[in-house]
Amino acid sequence: MSKLAVYPGSFDPITLGHLDIIERALDVAPRLQVVVVHNPSKQPFFTLPERVQMVTDALIERGLIGPVTVDSLESGLLTSYAAKLGANVLIKGFRTGVDIEYELPMAKVNRDLTGIETIFLPSDPANTHISSSLVKQVASLGGEITKYVPAAVIRGFKAKA
Ligand code: PNS
Repeated sequence: MSKLAVYPGSFDPITLGHLDIIERALDVAPRLQVVVVHNPSKQPFFTLPERVQMVTDALIERGLIGPVTVDSLESGLLTSYAAKLGANVLIKGFRTGVDIEYELPMAKVNRDLTGIETIFLPSDPANTHISSSLVKQVASLGGEITKYVPAAVIRGFKAKA
């Protein structure tokens, strides 16, 4: 069993799907570091500090801070970050085969770089349709997003309005 796992992502914003993966990752590793990563190929709606704050607040609301910690990665390789931390596994969630096609090359390159393994957790069927991009689209058009995101994210959108 791994001692420390890293769960990276853009989390723009964190959704109930991400939170489900975080809770279930604790069955794989006793400690999990969630890392909010700046992904230069994406134009984020929320800033990196805003995303870190929403992830932290959502984890506090669920009583998960302790076994789960939150950090951010502005630049540099995820594998170097994980190695410095002493983490021996990456956690990724996937909803469909499309996610796997996107994630699999990254898992292989990350393993090439430092030997770190990636564990894929399938999303709960109840969350398969939830994505950060759909949440942003619905929210920007005035739709209801409470079924998809934690309260911290609702507050985050209100603060940006
Ligand atoms: O939520 P996302 O945007 O799909 O997450 C992708 C992310 C941030 C995990 C990925 O882009 C990443 O690991 N970025 C860090 C830089 C890095 O190590 N790149 C090489 C990946 S093989």
